[in-house]
Amino acid sequence: MSTVKWEEWMSVGLDRIDADHKQVLALLGDLEHQVKEGAGREKILASFDGFIRHIRNHFSLEESLFRQTGFSGAAEHAREHKKLLTQIVDMQKKIQSEAEPLNRERLNFITNWLVNHILISDKKYATDPNVRARV
Ligand SMILES: [Fe+2]
Ligand SMILES: [Fe+2]
Repeated sequence: MSTVKWEEWMSVGLDRIDADHKQVLALLGDLEHQVKEGAGREKILASFDGFIRHIRNHFSLEESLFRQTGFSGAAEHAREHKKLLTQIVDMQKKIQSEAEPLNRERLNFITNWLVNHILISDKKYATDPNVRARV
């Protein structure tokens, strides 16, 4: 299993946002490590909960930037966030009810989604001059 770490080519050119992305990917890396080591359900759930909290805060930060700056792609971007969150919370419920474990495949799905989102959607708002002036 390869852990995806934040690297310079993922930078959106805004330090505050890059720092958040680094942390989100680091939390995913911790989860990958725990899954690989066969950590218990409670431990994985606690880490997954921390990851969800962080990603919610991150999405809220981006969306509040959009509101403050009137970014034209706000609605579409927020829809993407919501879609991922719905899927993640669904995964969390399945782990809680022991219906499905958090496995490598699901973590890879989240990682790929996030990296794609950073490279395409986040980079788009990060070039908006009004947003750049605000961060
Ligand atoms: Fe985003
Ligand atoms: Fe982001």
